[in-house]
Amino acid sequence: MTLRMTLAASAASLCYASVVLAGPQAEVLHWWTSGGEARAVAVLQEEFSARGGTWTDMPVAGGGGDAAMTALRARVLSGNAPTAVQLKGPAIQEWYEEGVLADISSVAEAQGWADILPASIAGHMQCDGVWCAAPVNVHRVDWVWANKSIIEAHGIAMPTTWDEFNAAAEKLQAAGITPLAHGGQSWQDATVFETVVLGLGGPDFFRSALVDLDMDALTSDTMKAVFDQMRTLRGFVDSNFSGRDWNLATAMVMNGEAAFQIMGDWAKGEFLAAGKVPGEDFLCASTPGDGYLYNVDSFAMFSVSGDDNIAGQNLLAELIVGESFQKVFNLNKGSIPVRADVALDEFDSCAVLSANDMVATAEAGSLLPSYAHGMALRGAQAGAITDVVTAHFNSDMSADDAVRMLADAVANSL
Ligand code: GAL
Repeated sequence: MTLRMTLAASAASLCYASVVLAGPQAEVLHWWTSGGEARAVAVLQEEFSARGGTWTDMPVAGGGGDAAMTALRARVLSGNAPTAVQLKGPAIQEWYEEGVLADISSVAEAQGWADILPASIAGHMQCDGVWCAAPVNVHRVDWVWANKSIIEAHGIAMPTTWDEFNAAAEKLQAAGITPLAHGGQSWQDATVFETVVLGLGGPDFFRSALVDLDMDALTSDTMKAVFDQMRTLRGFVDSNFSGRDWNLATAMVMNGEAAFQIMGDWAKGEFLAAGKVPGEDFLCASTPGDGYLYNVDSFAMFSVSGDDNIAGQNLLAELIVGESFQKVFNLNKGSIPVRADVALDEFDSCAVLSANDMVATAEAGSLLPSYAHGMALRGAQAGAITDVVTAHFNSDMSADDAVRMLADAVANSL
């Protein structure tokens, strides 16, 4: 039985429920369970309820969404897909090709998404010419976060090169401070890795290596230098990093247990949820080097039947792109609105920097999709790279061996 048939059968069995229930319904699968994330997703729940919707929450904990995507596969295969799912980048297209996504073009056309969304983002939301996902935000991945009082007490400024970062980290380490808060989960290793690829190689190298999967770039001396820098960073991490969640690493910076974290700006959502103020308690700067790695959260709707479910999907899509949600959600989440027409006057300096850099890098050709957050590559290719990055980070593998393994892993995934 194809996925489409399985879904249709299960949708038929849900018909009775939809006759009895009134009003828009949505079961929403997402992985927003940390403090900042939960505050942000509550905004959507509240707006949905205020419009008469009934929200059934299906949170699957696990930063980066790996566990959520496993749960999604199980639900779809058992013929019981959730109505709305946090999905991103090429994974949207992959699910569309399975024939299981709903077409939300009627909402997109009524709200004029083609006019209010930047073309680079709109492209991710369209499948074969129909609108198949609703964009929530723009997260920037290439950030360094710092505990302000720690680095100032040691006469350290936010690093603008990787050599400066290393020198600052060595100074802190000599003073008994953990330089880098890191959680040893593969997606976090990949997050740090891609910022080093961008910083040491530059935007064109990033594109060749992690978007185009060019073998010369993947096996180059530049890529070896990236793995060497990863080895150096490994030396700046405390001994308890294995398996640590990203938000606990953020808390280490917040609480003065570590100086820096390299993480996307969902980390800022954690600082804000804890009442910390950018520029006073913590500092943000893009990781050393040029460019901007974007990570656009979005929701796709799975094909379901029943007027209440379809009304729920349409209402969610409308609210997500609506101006009010775009502002309030992103104030909590640490990201910036996808809509350029949402005023940023209530946003903090890190968000304004992100928005300005996004415009400037789009013009310069250095606005790039994050591979670590599922924006650049299909799952098989991204997973093959991440396996090598993690294997290297957690062993004494040489950079030469790492690039050889990288080339093999990518070739086998194609
Ligand atoms: C990213 C996602 C963010 C944030 C982060 C940590 O992949 O885009 O919204 O939630 O994972 O969970």
